[in-house]
This record gives sequence, structure tokens and C-alpha cells, in this order.
Amino acid sequence: MTITSPPSPAAPTPAAGRLSLQCEAIAADTTAIRSLDWDRSRFDIEFGLRNGTTYNSFLVRGELTALIDTSHLKFAGTWLPLLQEQIDPRSIDYLIVSHTEPDHSGLIGHLIDLHPEIEIVGSKVAIQFLEHQVHRPFRSRAVKSGDELDLGTNPDSGVQHRFEFLSAPNLHWPDTIFSFDHGTGTLYTCDAFGLHYCSEQLFDSDPGAIAPDFRFYYECLMGPNARSVLQALKRMDALPEISTIAVGHGPLLREHLSLWLDDYRAWSSQRSAGEAYAAICYVSQYGFCDRLSQAIARGVAKAEAGVQLVDLRATDPQELSALIGEASAVVVPTWPAEPDPELQASIGTLLAALKPKQWLACYDAYGGNDEPIDSVAGTLRSLNAQEAFTPLRIRQVPGAADYQRCEEAGTDLGQLLSRAKTIAAMKALDADLDKALGRLSGGLYVVTARQGHGEAARSGAMVASWVSQASFEPPGITVAVAKDRAIESLMQVGDRFVLNILREDNHQKLLRHFLRRFPPGADRFAGVTVLEEAAEGGPVLGDALAFLGCRVAQRMEGPDHWIIYAEVEQGKVADNSASTAVHHRKVGNHY
Ligand SMILES: Cc1cc2nc3c(=O)[nH]c(=O)nc-3n(C[C@H](O)[C@H](O)[C@H](O)COP(=O)(O)O)c2cc1C
Repeated sequence: MTITSPPSPAAPTPAAGRLSLQCEAIAADTTAIRSLDWDRSRFDIEFGLRNGTTYNSFLVRGELTALIDTSHLKFAGTWLPLLQEQIDPRSIDYLIVSHTEPDHSGLIGHLIDLHPEIEIVGSKVAIQFLEHQVHRPFRSRAVKSGDELDLGTNPDSGVQHRFEFLSAPNLHWPDTIFSFDHGTGTLYTCDAFGLHYCSEQLFDSDPGAIAPDFRFYYECLMGPNARSVLQALKRMDALPEISTIAVGHGPLLREHLSLWLDDYRAWSSQRSAGEAYAAICYVSQYGFCDRLSQAIARGVAKAEAGVQLVDLRATDPQELSALIGEASAVVVPTWPAEPDPELQASIGTLLAALKPKQWLACYDAYGGNDEPIDSVAGTLRSLNAQEAFTPLRIRQVPGAADYQRCEEAGTDLGQLLSRAKTIAAMKALDADLDKALGRLSGGLYVVTARQGHGEAARSGAMVASWVSQASFEPPGITVAVAKDRAIESLMQVGDRFVLNILREDNHQKLLRHFLRRFPPGADRFAGVTVLEEAAEGGPVLGDALAFLGCRVAQRMEGPDHWIIYAEVEQGKVADNSASTAVHHRKVGNHY
């Protein structure tokens, strides 16, 4: 059954976009109730969505009944009535909470109101978080890896639904558990293995269509926790055969399951292959700490350096000590001026575990009553450590530009950690090959991009010469963009950018300007003439010979660059008598 109701009258504001629900059987005695949020364009402010998202919940009926996760508050007016059509909420015995992020737990309070006796099953941390979230008394059961919940045998199907739980901390919240139904072979993983992709396709029947979003989601949410992903995969290996991964976002994984599992294994192994890593600490559910930490972590990962997010509230002291002690760099948030005793103890453990020679840095959590950042920075400085980046001061509710600054600071830090590897890779080229490769030449260009307006604007620019026309009709070009370029985040599929073509007789000044080392979040256009409205995707440089307005259509992943294929939507030459600046090189291991 598919119920479509765009847009829902229950949507809190008309701007919430089209919302609909889908309700389908997915296995014996198991129903998926998916909330389809077609037009959601941002997930956390810095995480742009191209294809909306879904919030998936599941109803499993044995002798007893369990509901797995709920939905986003914006679906209150439609999701609850649909659930009531399926089952009298008072006959649901258990609500399994995979984790307590509001997009899945937004209707738990409503459910408790309908059925105060429902027993909530989740990790110990999830139960603690929920107490602060729902502000109502509720019955609960804390579970950990290896614990079981037996719903008994469904009298019609004869299938016994016995759940086994697996702890999966950090995927992507600290309180995450997976639930495996031995009766159907279905593993419920909520955020892990998910993707932000809204369609009525219930399963992964078109892997080509969803692969880019699956990868993007992994990079944003799972990559920074690659070590935790590997731990979770190890726990999953001990399960009997998994038939379906019932994710909390996007289509369920069944038809190409091994493909997705292999991806997670390969990407996570690559990221945590015994190399130097940065521990990015945060305090869960405190201010904007977790989102800011994720932006920093994403930046580190762009530079191909290892990264590990560390929740100071939920990591046990021994693990915390090991994660901090073994890290090559540690980034800490400002913490509450009056932390509760447990957090106070964690901060003590953190400071005691720091080692000389580590790179250290700090950022504002923007939690309200934070310890001032200067005092945190002073504490770190007193340890005689090396400063990885200047303290990230955040003086207002963080917006797109703050997240961009955090990401760029993270990339600077990542580059510090991967410097030795990069130099070794450059030296590894055979001398003859290197010289021959150096005979490839290109033009000289500046790629510019700008998204959003005012406070929410994010922009970037980079000098490029690895640019080539790649299609006649429609006209298309490719640009090779290093994975750790700041501007890379603004060149996702669907994004627009401008290729400024430099003039032979007047390009040195622009090169000098754009090749400077810019601090994180700096305005790269200060001091250059730009024609703001000339193109849609970004500033056009006043001194450029010509520009092309482009829209990213595809991204191909190379070892150290993304090959970005873009369709050219507009273009103009400023001076027909001038020619394009050409870049001749001598060696192939530099641009
Ligand atoms: C002549 C020249 C050509 C370049 N071409 C490219 C290119 O095609 N792709 C790329 O990713 N970087 C290229 N670069 C490097 C970047 O322009 C530059 O290092 C970058 O703007 C700084 O990194 P950031 O923007 O991430 O801070 C080139 C650099 C030079 C000097």
C-alpha cells in the first residue's frame, strides 16, 4: 500500500515541502512505514541534500509486537493515524529506539501519550538521552551487544521473531544499537548504511541511481567514524546470514547487499589503515558541538588523513584515554563552565591523556554557558603542544559560513597529518616518466563558486589547469579537483560554478592572489574585481578573458582528485582579440 499526500496538512509550515507516507510489507510479519520528505534540502545546515530523504520505521509482529523507531515531528499529523490503521498503539509491547536523533525519535512522546505502558528498548545512553528529550515517565529496558528480545512466534506465519542487539556507538550517534531479527534475517541499522534519497522505490533495485548519495552520506556521517564502522562490521560478521538491511533513511538494502557492505568495509579500512589520525572531541547534546565537530572531521578526512570523532560524554574512560593518547592531533570543544561530575571526569581524563608533540586545537561549542575559548586554548597552550589551527571562535548560532570555516580548518589539520605521505607520493614517480608527464600542458583558469546569500553564503576559488572540454552537445567540460581542495565541497552533483579563463597578457596578478594560503573561512575575493551578477554559480573575475557558467553533472573518483564533469550553461568572452594563458610544466608531479 502506498499513501501519497503531498503536501501534508500536518506539515508545520507550508515551506516544509511535499510529505507523503509509504506502508509496505517487507518480510514475514514485518511492515515498513516510511515517511517521505521529498523536498528536504538540508540535513544539519552543512549537509546539502539533493534528493530529499526518508525516515523509516518498522512494525514486527510475533506473539508480541515491536515498533522500531518513529518519525520526524513534521509527520505527526499523518504518521500516527497511519500507525493506528495498522495496529492499536496500545497493543504495541516494545518500542526499539535505534538512537535518539529527533528525525527518528520525534514522535516517541506522542506514542507514550497514546500508550503509557509501552516499554522502550535502547542502549543505556539512549535511555538517558530520552529522559531529557520526552519529559514524561516511561518504562525502559537498556540493552547491549548480545542481549536478546524474543517477540515469540507469530501464530499465522509460524515465524519466531527473536531480536539480538549489537552496540554500534558513533554510527552516527553515540547511543546507536542495531537490532537483528533472527526470524527474517533483517538487520535494523537506522543511520548506518543509509542514504538521503527519497523515492517510492522500497529497495535498492537501481544501485547506479543511489550509489552517489550512498557514498556522499558515508563520507559525511560514517567516514569520520571509520574505526567504529569496522567494529560494527565485525559484530555483524558473527550473525547468521543477513537478508536485508532495513535502514532508517532511503531505500532498504536487499538486492545488492554485498555491494554496499563491501563499500563500507573498503572505505573504512582505507581510512583507518594504521595511519596517523586526528581525534575530534565533542560533547553530545551540547550546543552545536556535534555538528561543528562533524564539519571539522569531514575536513580532516578530505585530506586523506585518519579521523575519529570522540564523544566526551559517552566514551568510557579507558577507551577515551586510548583514543586521545594514540592520536596525532586532538581537537577539543569548549565545555560547559559547570560540567556535571561525569563530564568533568571525562575532561580530566582527556587532559591527562594528551601527549607532547601532538597537534592540538579548539573550537567554540556555542553551548550557551561555555568555558571561554581563551581559557581552553590557554590550557592547551600550557601543555607546550603545537597548535594545529587558531581557535575557531563562533560568536552566533553557527551558519553555513561557520561550518565551512570548520571544514577548512579540519582540512588544514588533515594536510599536516598527511604531509609526509603526500611528499613520498610525489617523489615516487620515475624520473623519465615524470618529465614526460610534465609535457602535458593546459590553460590557466580560476574556478569560483558561491552558494546561499548573506550570512548563509559559502564561497570558494581555486587556480586550475587540469581542465578540458569533454563534450560538444550539450557542451561539457571536466575539471580535476584535488580531494582536499576547499572548493570541492561546493562542487557536488547539481552545484553550479564558474570557470574563469585567464588572459595570456594579464594573469600573473590573479594567480598570485588566488595561490596565497588562505586561512579557514577567509573571503578569497577581497581585493579582486568581481562581476557579481554575471553568472549564476559564482563570481566572474573582472580581469578574466572569458567565463563559462557550469553545472556539475557527474563526479568520477580518481585516487587523489575528483574528475568533475559539468555541463556548460552559459559563457561570454570579454575581449575577442586576447588569447588564453597557457601553462607549460617541466614535471608531472606538480601542477
Ligand atoms: C598552475 C597551477 C595549476 C593548478 N591546477 C589545479 C587543478 O587543476 N586542480 C586542483 O585541484 N588544484 C590545482 N592547483 C592547486 C590549487 O590551485 C591551489 O593549491 C589551491 O587553490 C589551494 O588549495 P585550497 O583552495 O584547498 O586551499 C593548481 C595550482 C597551480 C599553481
